[in-house]
Amino acid sequence: MKKLALYLIAIAMMTACNNAEPQPDESAHSEKKWWKEAIIYQIYPRSFKDTNGDGIGDLRGIIEELDYIQSLGVTAVWLNPIYSSPNDDNGYDVSDYRNIMDDFGTMEDFDQMLSGMHERGIKLIMDIVVNHSSDEHEWFKQSRSSRDNPYRDYYHWWPAEKGKPNYRYSLFDERGDAWKYDTLTNAYYLHYFSQKQPDLNWSNPKVRQEVNEIMKYWAEKGVDGFRLDAFQFAAKDTTYPAFPEGFEKNFIDYYAMQDGLNDYLRGMYDEVFSKYDVMSVAEGAGRNLQEAHELVDEDRQELNMAYAFEGVDIAKYEGYELSKLKEIFSKWDSAFAEKGWLSIFLANHDQARLVSRFGSDEPAFREASAKMLNTFILSMRGTPYCYYGDELGMTNIGFTSIEQYKDIAAINGYKKAKAEGKDMDYFLKKLSFESRDNGRTPMQWNGDKNAGFSEADPWLPVNNNHLEINVEAQERDPESILNHFRNLTKLRKEWPVLVYGQYEIVEKEHPQVYAYARKYNDQQLLIVHNFSKEEAKFALPENINLGEILINNYPDLKMEKDIFSLRPYQSVIMVKE
Ligand code: NOJ
Repeated sequence: MKKLALYLIAIAMMTACNNAEPQPDESAHSEKKWWKEAIIYQIYPRSFKDTNGDGIGDLRGIIEELDYIQSLGVTAVWLNPIYSSPNDDNGYDVSDYRNIMDDFGTMEDFDQMLSGMHERGIKLIMDIVVNHSSDEHEWFKQSRSSRDNPYRDYYHWWPAEKGKPNYRYSLFDERGDAWKYDTLTNAYYLHYFSQKQPDLNWSNPKVRQEVNEIMKYWAEKGVDGFRLDAFQFAAKDTTYPAFPEGFEKNFIDYYAMQDGLNDYLRGMYDEVFSKYDVMSVAEGAGRNLQEAHELVDEDRQELNMAYAFEGVDIAKYEGYELSKLKEIFSKWDSAFAEKGWLSIFLANHDQARLVSRFGSDEPAFREASAKMLNTFILSMRGTPYCYYGDELGMTNIGFTSIEQYKDIAAINGYKKAKAEGKDMDYFLKKLSFESRDNGRTPMQWNGDKNAGFSEADPWLPVNNNHLEINVEAQERDPESILNHFRNLTKLRKEWPVLVYGQYEIVEKEHPQVYAYARKYNDQQLLIVHNFSKEEAKFALPENINLGEILINNYPDLKMEKDIFSLRPYQSVIMVKE
């Protein structure tokens, strides 16, 4: 009886509280969550800051810069893998999921870094790499040692006496072949990435349990979320049927979201995600909108947010169309308008630099376009992911010879293209623009030697433009890209409409301008970006009355008779009345 009375009082109090609140918008998005409001800063630890003079960034470097990270106004950090690894793919080949890579420091450093973040109100999202492990992981060493080893089924093996298995494409293999013959047991193992990244066999419940335990280990330490690397590839048909010839051109259609994948995620949800206050996101969002939706539909209890590549992928050496960018972002937004939640990003460690790809790194336009792109990312619906250095407008380094690259994808891609007789001149030009190493050069802290990143020669050269583009210089300039970024994060926190508001594209066909309205309860905004190097005329649509300008990457905004003259890459957020 007493319990029932307490329960009824609690319900009455909850109802009273709810009634006191203004009624939110209808959509499921009005359900507030910290991970929807988060502003994520992605750190590539190898390139952030080196404190022990080996030319490689480390956890103590992150600890030293926690105040800087906090000053950005970001509320969470996604850290690329920091586990023990032989570094065939810079940590995406894990040899021990419960240890810290020697290059990066110790578990004590990790604990200190985590509490330092938490003291500053910053959450930590770990990268969980479990589509594959390193071939130097104990599981693989055991698995490879004999056919009847208890770990044999942790990976995908094909006995060679049955002949060569059906072709599978590998993204990082120099021959593009995902089956590697291993003499020891006269069998092939599967590796969608490099030969040193054998794929784990997710149809084995023991593998699934191991991974849950790993995530619990980190959740118990207090981490706040997980990004599941390449996870959409984890489920495989272990009869390895033949795929049609040329399938590798659309390999995602054959590799992603195979039977079982959603169940594996549901298992993680039951065992881990539902038991801790952690957010979850997987790299890739399936083959179509429906699959993306299913991954993050709250009712299905799998993941929290989708991380889809369609937008980030369009900017190539050959350029990209603004109309395409608008179409993709609008399409994804409308598909998630009622349910589910998106990640918003235009850069990460697998891409070249944001400003070089989507804006312009020419001196006349770099600053304006970097500010515009940051405004775009921080004003769309979805959780924004901001990649380290983009708050400064860091640019592509643009290597010219293959010897300069460190990335296995570039090096083996080059060997493969050469073997196939491709036009290598074109290949190198394209690589120079698109390569992942462009996005991995050391953080530019100041104009000193090695940009203040390290005392020693860095593992990847610093960009020469660190003399001009660096934190120290931008701290001094109130109009810098860095300070503009800080103003944007502040705005996003002050205006819930930027997080939860509905999105509606405005003047969709405009060839230079990407404009949209956001609306949430009584807050309404108009956001206008000129994505071009030329002035753009933009007529204010009828029935729109504008109020205050909340942020502008130029000192003023030219307008005559309801027609804006937007300067190159001008980007403005205005209140709609
Ligand atoms: C995706 C990661 O983002 C990338 O950096 C890595 O090379 C592959 N997965 C393999 O783990």
